[in-house]
Amino acid sequence: MYTKSIWNIFSTTTDFPQLQGDVEADVAIIGGGITGLSTAQELIKQGKKVIVIDERKIGGGTSSHSTGNLYVTIDQILSSLASKYDTKTVKQVIAARKAGFAAIENNIKNHNIDCGFTTCSWYLFAGDEANRDKIEKELMVAKEAGLDAEVVMPSYMPVTVSRAMKITGQAQFNPMRYVQALAQVLSGENCRVYENTRATKIEEQDDHCMVHTTGGNIKAKHVVEATHTPKGIMMVQTLLGPYREYGIACKVGSDLPHDGIYWGYYDQGEKYSIRKYQRDGDTFLLVVGKPHKVGQAKRNVSHTEALEEFARKHFDVQEVVYRWGGQHYRPADLLPYIGRKNEGSNIFIATGYSTDGLVYGALAGKLIADEINELPNEWHELFSSTRNQPLKAAKKFISENVNVAKQFLKNIPGVADSKAFDAIRPGEGKIIEKDGHKLAVCRSEDNQLHVRSAICPHMMCVVNWNDVEKSWDCPCHGSRFDIDGGVLEGPALHPLHEIVFTGKKVKSHHVD
Ligand code: FES
Repeated sequence: MYTKSIWNIFSTTTDFPQLQGDVEADVAIIGGGITGLSTAQELIKQGKKVIVIDERKIGGGTSSHSTGNLYVTIDQILSSLASKYDTKTVKQVIAARKAGFAAIENNIKNHNIDCGFTTCSWYLFAGDEANRDKIEKELMVAKEAGLDAEVVMPSYMPVTVSRAMKITGQAQFNPMRYVQALAQVLSGENCRVYENTRATKIEEQDDHCMVHTTGGNIKAKHVVEATHTPKGIMMVQTLLGPYREYGIACKVGSDLPHDGIYWGYYDQGEKYSIRKYQRDGDTFLLVVGKPHKVGQAKRNVSHTEALEEFARKHFDVQEVVYRWGGQHYRPADLLPYIGRKNEGSNIFIATGYSTDGLVYGALAGKLIADEINELPNEWHELFSSTRNQPLKAAKKFISENVNVAKQFLKNIPGVADSKAFDAIRPGEGKIIEKDGHKLAVCRSEDNQLHVRSAICPHMMCVVNWNDVEKSWDCPCHGSRFDIDGGVLEGPALHPLHEIVFTGKKVKSHHVD
């Protein structure tokens, strides 16, 4: 069993160099996922020279952990949007998402990208009578917004369906293969791509910005933080709820549903997303769901177990082959934040995509490029990251932040003797308090103990162990770290501090 996304398994490879030395460009883009590469593509079309860096390999962040579904609706469904906004705004969101979707489809066709792109329908259904009204409402909102939505009964789905709707003309692909191919297509004199190069500091000066990285400095007029959530400390982070959701890929003995994106409500409103994926002669059933706030699950593994239970109940599952977690940031007012970090700033951000980031990432590329080049864009105001927060978002804003505040105040009981270290078994992690330091202690499968500070370097919350992905996850704004403290994702710029034991004392050291 792999704790790796299926997209990582069926990917190609990229071999871009690591940055070594100081370089200069018009725009420095941090993040080689769909947002970063879509932005690079639009900017070079508009005559700019760009540099793209990724702290891992191209597509190794969020793009390779998504569902691979492309749709014009939204994860939180259109009726939620309609409860906050008028029909005109709902229509604008759909039109903008259609443009993002089209940008991806055109790239695949124009560059002949081998990423399993398939046109299919999107379905939303209620698995029980209790959720039937949701479908009725969604159908009404979708029709009002001009979508060609209709009632269906997908009899070929081996699950109970009390009511279902569909929208045709949606699609699925392998997002990892797409971004890897896009990077290859774009790479050249006007778009230099560097892998394994991590930004450690972003400075904005009067007439230029400087991105300090682990391989050298990048001087640029503009910087784009295509990092899923902006790095460092920003106000916008208080408007985002960081969530982790899980996926499993199974081999099944029975027939699978037709190609399609299947979202169903079951078990007291729990939403599962089902699709199939075929590659190299293999067919897999994918089930995605069971979200929780990052760093706040009691047992992460219970979430993947629930997905397995669901899959086994409805399909003839022979083997669960892959499982993985993916992160998303839910925006307080249901719309992503794309544009300048602050009024007048030359640093741009794109965040709050919820789980709709493939299409929003492609859209962000055009929005950001147009703003840098001072070109009009009809959706600029709608998604502006400096927009006034609608009053309707306030309730959500408060609830996300009360939750964060609780994490700051959390009292983790301390354990001061070495028995606490010995008690940690391979694959386990625990927070141990020693000499006033909270330590993130885990034992790898090869029986080695790994100790880092448990204090997140972003804004000092205490990280929690993720027993599925073997990582330290911060419950406040979603930073995640590997067992040696390295940043996996989120706003933290620096690893968890190193811990040094001097005699009986413990010291914590900053790492760049
Ligand atoms: Fe903000 Fe950890 S991510 S404190």
